[in-house]
Amino acid sequence: MRRKTVPVKRSLWLAPDGWSVQIIDQTKLPHEVAIVRLRAMEDAARAIVTMQVRGAPLIGITAAYGVALAMRADASNASLAKAYARLIKTRPTAINLRWALDQMRALLQPLPAAERPRAAYARVAELVEADVATNRAIGEHGLSLFRAALKKKKSGEPLQIMTHCNAGRIATLDWGTATAPIYLAQAQGLPVHVWVSETRPRNQGAALTAWELGERGVPLTVISDNASGHLLQRGLVDLVIVGADRVTARGDVANKIGTYLKAIAARAHCVPFYVAFPESTVDWTIKDGVAEIPIEQRDPREVTHVTGWLGKTRRGEVRLTPEGAAARNDAFDVTPARFITAFITERGVCRASAAGLKRLFQREKR
Ligand code: MRU
Repeated sequence: MRRKTVPVKRSLWLAPDGWSVQIIDQTKLPHEVAIVRLRAMEDAARAIVTMQVRGAPLIGITAAYGVALAMRADASNASLAKAYARLIKTRPTAINLRWALDQMRALLQPLPAAERPRAAYARVAELVEADVATNRAIGEHGLSLFRAALKKKKSGEPLQIMTHCNAGRIATLDWGTATAPIYLAQAQGLPVHVWVSETRPRNQGAALTAWELGERGVPLTVISDNASGHLLQRGLVDLVIVGADRVTARGDVANKIGTYLKAIAARAHCVPFYVAFPESTVDWTIKDGVAEIPIEQRDPREVTHVTGWLGKTRRGEVRLTPEGAAARNDAFDVTPARFITAFITERGVCRASAAGLKRLFQREKR
């Protein structure tokens, strides 16, 4: 483990040995930039389960590297099947996990074992570069919406953007999804300010989004989740933009718990609510998000306790609730398509509907 003082470009990269994988341990952010090395499929699986890596696209890429690591150790059919079975169970909601594992399996299964390790690493490298390009394209399309929103404001006033959770560059390979237009706007000198919703109980907003936007010099203010409705009501927000973990063929969106409440509040106050995601986040096999998307149930301890930085060198956990208080921890919620103003994807902007998705991607529920 080592500390870095310079901005870290990627959330995950191949080590100099050319086969092991290095990640930023996101459970330590924002207090420490700890680099962890994944040397085996099980390391990749554990990194996803413990949320050292998290965010739908990064979960998918990490799982793909998990398959590559498994093939390096043992390229047999049994090893491929075991890697798939282990990795697919690591987290249930983000569909990018299945998308990446299906791609790897479809590529590797027909190949002779001797060719699998090289082919696996080559495919993950392609997925990595594709993710960067995809997010950049999402950023370009989102930027057009930001520009249009800025035109309605007094000259020089910053665009007031609200986001939730972390759909940023550390949830992807680069740029992020919801943050991509923010980074592009900043790079082009457009005035922006981001309301970063803390995102209880794991605080991805307060810990991760505030860290990565701050590292790039984007003006931000962290708010409690409960403040969102109030700020929207006061006219202090021009638009809300979030990422997604799974989007159904009719446009329902699973994202971090608390997203749904923001969408309802945004609708009540006529503030645009955008969801940014790549095609790999669309689950074309289902329609009704509330009924069909599995919602991850996490340890209630994440609700009853909070982890933070206790001093210059010490992380620690404190209990918030009375001892023995029952708690429940649904990690995601589903926002029905009707509350969403538009989708921002690598193919462009579309209505949050089956027709909108079909028009962009030329696909529909299979
Ligand atoms: O539980 P997490 O931190 O993996 O949840 C992440 C989110 O909900 C993100 O908003 C989503 O994955 C989009 S990441 C580009």
